[in-house]
Amino acid sequence: MDSPRDWTAVDDYFTDELVRQDQALIDTARGDARTTAPGIAVSPPQGKLLSLIGEMIGARRALEFGTLAGYSTLWLARAVGPQGRVVSLELEEQNAAVARENLTAAGMSDRVEIRVGPATATSAALVAEPAEPFDLVFIDADKPNNPAYLEATMALTRPGSVIVLDNVTRQGRVADSESTAPDVIGVRTALRTIAEDPRLDATALQTVGMKGWDGFAVIYRRS
Ligand code: SAH
Ligand code: DHB
Ligand code: MG
Repeated sequence: MDSPRDWTAVDDYFTDELVRQDQALIDTARGDARTTAPGIAVSPPQGKLLSLIGEMIGARRALEFGTLAGYSTLWLARAVGPQGRVVSLELEEQNAAVARENLTAAGMSDRVEIRVGPATATSAALVAEPAEPFDLVFIDADKPNNPAYLEATMALTRPGSVIVLDNVTRQGRVADSESTAPDVIGVRTALRTIAEDPRLDATALQTVGMKGWDGFAVIYRRS
Protein backbone atom coordinates (compact mmCIF):
# COMPACT_ATOMS: atom_id res chain seq x y z
CA MET A 1 0.00 0.00 0.00
CA ASP A 2 2.59 2.59 -0.94
CA SER A 3 2.16 3.34 -4.63
CA PRO A 4 1.02 6.67 -6.06
CA ARG A 5 -2.25 4.95 -6.98
CA ASP A 6 -2.87 4.12 -3.31
CA TRP A 7 -1.99 7.70 -2.26
CA THR A 8 -4.58 8.99 -4.72
CA ALA A 9 -7.19 6.56 -3.41
CA VAL A 10 -6.64 7.84 0.12
CA ASP A 11 -6.86 11.47 -1.05
CA ASP A 12 -10.12 10.57 -2.81
CA TYR A 13 -11.42 8.98 0.39
CA PHE A 14 -10.50 12.00 2.56
CA THR A 15 -12.00 14.29 -0.07
CA ASP A 16 -15.27 12.37 -0.18
CA GLU A 17 -15.50 11.98 3.59
CA LEU A 18 -14.25 15.32 4.92
CA VAL A 19 -13.77 17.89 2.18
CA ARG A 20 -17.06 17.28 0.37
CA GLN A 21 -16.43 19.74 -2.43
CA ASP A 22 -19.41 21.60 -3.79
CA GLN A 23 -20.03 22.14 -7.49
CA ALA A 24 -18.10 25.43 -7.61
CA LEU A 25 -14.93 23.77 -6.30
CA ILE A 26 -15.35 20.80 -8.65
CA ASP A 27 -15.91 23.10 -11.63
CA THR A 28 -12.93 25.28 -10.69
CA ALA A 29 -10.66 22.24 -10.38
CA ARG A 30 -11.81 21.07 -13.82
CA GLY A 31 -11.11 24.52 -15.25
CA ASP A 32 -7.42 23.92 -14.86
CA ALA A 33 -7.51 21.94 -18.13
CA ARG A 34 -7.78 25.32 -19.88
CA THR A 35 -4.71 26.80 -18.14
CA THR A 36 -1.06 26.79 -19.16
CA ALA A 37 -0.21 24.29 -16.40
CA PRO A 38 -2.93 21.66 -15.89
CA GLY A 39 -2.71 19.36 -12.89
CA ILE A 40 -0.72 21.34 -10.35
CA ALA A 41 -3.40 23.01 -8.23
CA VAL A 42 -3.45 22.07 -4.56
CA SER A 43 -5.35 18.86 -3.82
CA PRO A 44 -8.81 19.16 -2.25
CA PRO A 45 -7.52 18.22 1.23
CA GLN A 46 -4.72 20.80 0.89
CA GLY A 47 -7.16 23.45 -0.30
CA LYS A 48 -9.36 22.79 2.68
CA LEU A 49 -6.33 23.06 4.99
CA LEU A 50 -5.57 26.52 3.55
CA SER A 51 -9.15 27.52 4.17
CA LEU A 52 -9.18 26.13 7.72
CA ILE A 53 -5.93 27.94 8.55
CA GLY A 54 -7.52 31.14 7.27
CA GLU A 55 -10.61 30.61 9.40
CA MET A 56 -8.61 29.55 12.48
CA ILE A 57 -6.61 32.78 12.43
CA GLY A 58 -9.63 34.91 11.50
CA ALA A 59 -7.99 36.02 8.27
CA ARG A 60 -9.75 38.86 6.47
CA ARG A 61 -7.04 39.55 3.90
CA ALA A 62 -5.22 36.84 1.96
CA LEU A 63 -2.50 37.13 -0.67
CA GLU A 64 -1.60 34.43 -3.16
CA PHE A 65 1.35 34.05 -5.52
CA GLY A 66 0.22 31.86 -8.45
CA THR A 67 -3.50 31.72 -9.32
CA LEU A 68 -3.71 29.09 -12.08
CA ALA A 69 -7.46 28.32 -12.41
CA GLY A 70 -8.32 29.90 -9.07
CA TYR A 71 -8.80 26.66 -7.14
CA SER A 72 -6.68 27.58 -4.09
CA THR A 73 -7.95 31.14 -4.58
CA LEU A 74 -11.53 29.94 -4.11
CA TRP A 75 -10.61 28.18 -0.85
CA LEU A 76 -8.91 31.36 0.37
CA ALA A 77 -11.88 33.49 -0.70
CA ARG A 78 -14.25 31.34 1.31
CA ALA A 79 -11.97 31.55 4.34
CA VAL A 80 -11.88 35.36 4.41
CA GLY A 81 -15.66 35.63 4.26
CA PRO A 82 -17.92 38.18 2.56
CA GLN A 83 -16.14 41.15 4.15
CA GLY A 84 -12.70 39.79 3.25
CA ARG A 85 -10.37 40.29 0.35
CA VAL A 86 -8.04 38.03 -1.65
CA VAL A 87 -5.37 39.36 -3.97
CA SER A 88 -3.90 36.70 -6.26
CA LEU A 89 -0.89 37.30 -8.50
CA GLU A 90 -0.62 35.45 -11.82
CA LEU A 91 1.81 35.70 -14.72
CA GLU A 92 -0.43 34.37 -17.49
CA GLU A 93 -3.48 36.28 -18.73
CA GLN A 94 -4.86 32.95 -20.01
CA ASN A 95 -4.89 31.54 -16.48
CA ALA A 96 -6.23 34.73 -14.94
CA ALA A 97 -9.14 34.66 -17.41
CA VAL A 98 -10.02 31.07 -16.44
CA ALA A 99 -9.72 31.95 -12.75
CA ARG A 100 -11.89 35.05 -13.04
CA GLU A 101 -14.55 33.00 -14.80
CA ASN A 102 -14.45 30.33 -12.07
CA LEU A 103 -14.47 32.84 -9.21
CA THR A 104 -17.33 34.79 -10.74
CA ALA A 105 -19.34 31.58 -11.15
CA ALA A 106 -18.58 30.81 -7.49
CA GLY A 107 -19.93 34.21 -6.42
CA MET A 108 -16.51 35.43 -5.27
CA SER A 109 -15.71 38.09 -7.86
CA ASP A 110 -16.34 40.98 -5.46
CA ARG A 111 -13.80 39.74 -2.90
CA VAL A 112 -11.04 38.50 -5.22
CA GLU A 113 -8.68 40.58 -7.29
CA ILE A 114 -6.31 38.91 -9.75
CA ARG A 115 -3.31 40.94 -10.85
CA VAL A 116 -1.59 39.81 -14.02
CA GLY A 117 2.15 40.04 -14.60
CA PRO A 118 5.37 38.71 -13.11
CA ALA A 119 4.68 38.46 -9.38
CA THR A 120 8.01 40.11 -8.58
CA ALA A 121 6.56 43.24 -10.21
CA THR A 122 2.95 42.96 -9.04
CA SER A 123 4.02 42.26 -5.46
CA ALA A 124 6.41 45.23 -5.56
CA ALA A 125 3.47 47.36 -6.71
CA LEU A 126 1.44 46.09 -3.75
CA VAL A 127 4.26 47.01 -1.38
CA ALA A 128 4.19 50.55 -2.77
CA GLU A 129 0.43 50.91 -2.22
CA PRO A 130 -0.99 51.94 1.13
CA ALA A 131 -3.07 49.01 2.37
CA GLU A 132 -3.72 46.86 5.42
CA PRO A 133 -1.31 43.97 5.92
CA PHE A 134 -2.28 40.48 4.78
CA ASP A 135 -3.19 37.92 7.44
CA LEU A 136 -2.48 34.86 5.29
CA VAL A 137 -0.13 34.44 2.34
CA PHE A 138 0.07 31.41 0.04
CA ILE A 139 3.28 31.32 -2.02
CA ASP A 140 2.72 28.97 -4.95
CA ALA A 141 4.12 30.47 -8.16
CA ASP A 142 7.49 29.82 -9.87
CA LYS A 143 9.81 28.25 -7.30
CA PRO A 144 13.06 30.03 -8.29
CA ASN A 145 11.46 33.32 -7.22
CA ASN A 146 10.47 32.09 -3.75
CA PRO A 147 13.11 34.29 -2.07
CA ALA A 148 11.76 37.40 -3.80
CA TYR A 149 8.19 36.45 -2.92
CA LEU A 150 9.17 35.91 0.69
CA GLU A 151 10.82 39.31 0.83
CA ALA A 152 7.72 41.01 -0.56
CA THR A 153 5.61 39.01 1.87
CA MET A 154 7.58 40.41 4.80
CA ALA A 155 6.68 43.91 3.63
CA LEU A 156 3.01 42.94 3.26
CA THR A 157 2.33 41.10 6.53
CA ARG A 158 2.28 41.81 10.29
CA PRO A 159 3.14 39.92 13.47
CA GLY A 160 0.59 37.11 13.67
CA SER A 161 0.37 36.56 9.93
CA VAL A 162 0.73 33.03 8.56
CA ILE A 163 2.58 32.13 5.36
CA VAL A 164 2.24 28.82 3.54
CA LEU A 165 4.98 27.94 1.06
CA ASP A 166 3.96 25.19 -1.36
CA ASN A 167 5.99 22.44 -3.02
CA VAL A 168 9.04 22.39 -0.80
CA THR A 169 10.25 18.82 -1.35
CA ARG A 170 10.90 18.92 -5.11
CA GLN A 171 10.58 15.10 -5.15
CA GLY A 172 13.32 14.91 -2.54
CA ARG A 173 15.82 17.05 -4.42
CA VAL A 174 15.47 19.78 -1.77
CA ALA A 175 17.75 17.79 0.56
CA ASP A 176 20.64 18.03 -1.93
CA SER A 177 22.79 20.92 -0.76
CA GLU A 178 24.89 20.65 -3.94
CA SER A 179 21.92 21.03 -6.29
CA THR A 180 22.17 23.74 -8.92
CA ALA A 181 18.53 23.35 -10.01
CA PRO A 182 16.83 26.76 -9.83
CA ASP A 183 13.71 25.40 -8.14
CA VAL A 184 15.73 23.64 -5.44
CA ILE A 185 17.85 26.73 -4.87
CA GLY A 186 14.68 28.84 -4.71
CA VAL A 187 13.20 26.63 -2.01
CA ARG A 188 16.45 26.20 -0.05
CA THR A 189 17.26 29.92 -0.11
CA ALA A 190 13.77 30.80 1.09
CA LEU A 191 13.92 28.23 3.90
CA ARG A 192 17.35 29.49 4.98
CA THR A 193 16.06 33.07 5.02
CA ILE A 194 13.07 31.99 7.10
CA ALA A 195 15.30 30.09 9.53
CA GLU A 196 17.58 33.07 9.98
CA ASP A 197 14.82 35.68 10.36
CA PRO A 198 14.12 36.14 14.08
CA ARG A 199 10.60 37.34 13.24
CA LEU A 200 9.68 34.00 11.70
CA ASP A 201 9.18 30.47 12.96
CA ALA A 202 8.45 27.55 10.66
CA THR A 203 8.15 23.89 9.95
CA ALA A 204 7.75 21.86 6.78
CA LEU A 205 5.83 18.68 6.08
CA GLN A 206 6.25 16.11 3.34
CA THR A 207 3.05 14.79 1.82
CA VAL A 208 2.01 11.94 -0.43
CA GLY A 209 -1.27 12.00 -2.27
CA MET A 210 -2.78 12.67 -5.67
CA LYS A 211 0.17 15.01 -6.41
CA GLY A 212 2.77 12.35 -5.66
CA TRP A 213 5.59 13.19 -3.27
CA ASP A 214 5.20 16.81 -2.27
CA GLY A 215 5.16 19.03 0.78
CA PHE A 216 4.66 22.50 2.16
CA ALA A 217 6.07 24.78 4.83
CA VAL A 218 3.95 26.65 7.37
CA ILE A 219 5.51 29.85 8.64
CA TYR A 220 4.34 31.93 11.56
CA ARG A 221 5.32 35.57 11.74
CA ARG A 222 5.89 36.19 15.45
CA SER A 223 7.12 39.78 15.29
N1 SAH B 1 -2.19 28.22 -6.45
C1 SAH B 1 -2.78 27.45 -7.55
C2 SAH B 1 -1.71 26.78 -8.38
C3 SAH B 1 -0.68 27.70 -8.91
S1 SAH B 1 0.35 26.88 -10.12
C4 SAH B 1 -3.69 26.39 -6.96
O1 SAH B 1 -3.23 25.68 -6.06
O2 SAH B 1 -4.83 26.27 -7.38
C5 SAH B 1 1.58 28.10 -10.34
C6 SAH B 1 1.07 29.34 -11.06
O3 SAH B 1 2.10 30.32 -10.98
C7 SAH B 1 0.77 29.13 -12.54
O4 SAH B 1 -0.52 29.60 -12.84
C8 SAH B 1 1.82 29.97 -13.24
O5 SAH B 1 1.36 30.58 -14.45
C9 SAH B 1 2.10 31.04 -12.20
N2 SAH B 1 3.40 31.69 -12.37
C10 SAH B 1 4.54 31.17 -12.87
N3 SAH B 1 5.51 32.09 -12.89
C11 SAH B 1 4.98 33.22 -12.36
C12 SAH B 1 5.47 34.52 -12.13
N4 SAH B 1 6.73 34.86 -12.42
N5 SAH B 1 4.65 35.44 -11.59
C13 SAH B 1 3.36 35.12 -11.28
N6 SAH B 1 2.84 33.89 -11.49
C14 SAH B 1 3.64 32.97 -12.03
C1 DHB C 1 4.61 22.49 -9.71
C2 DHB C 1 4.16 23.69 -9.19
C3 DHB C 1 3.23 23.70 -8.18
O1 DHB C 1 2.76 24.85 -7.64
C4 DHB C 1 2.73 22.52 -7.68
O2 DHB C 1 1.84 22.57 -6.66
C5 DHB C 1 3.17 21.32 -8.19
C6 DHB C 1 4.12 21.31 -9.22
C7 DHB C 1 5.63 22.48 -10.79
O3 DHB C 1 6.02 23.55 -11.22
O4 DHB C 1 6.00 21.40 -11.19
MG1 MG D 1 1.85 24.43 -5.70
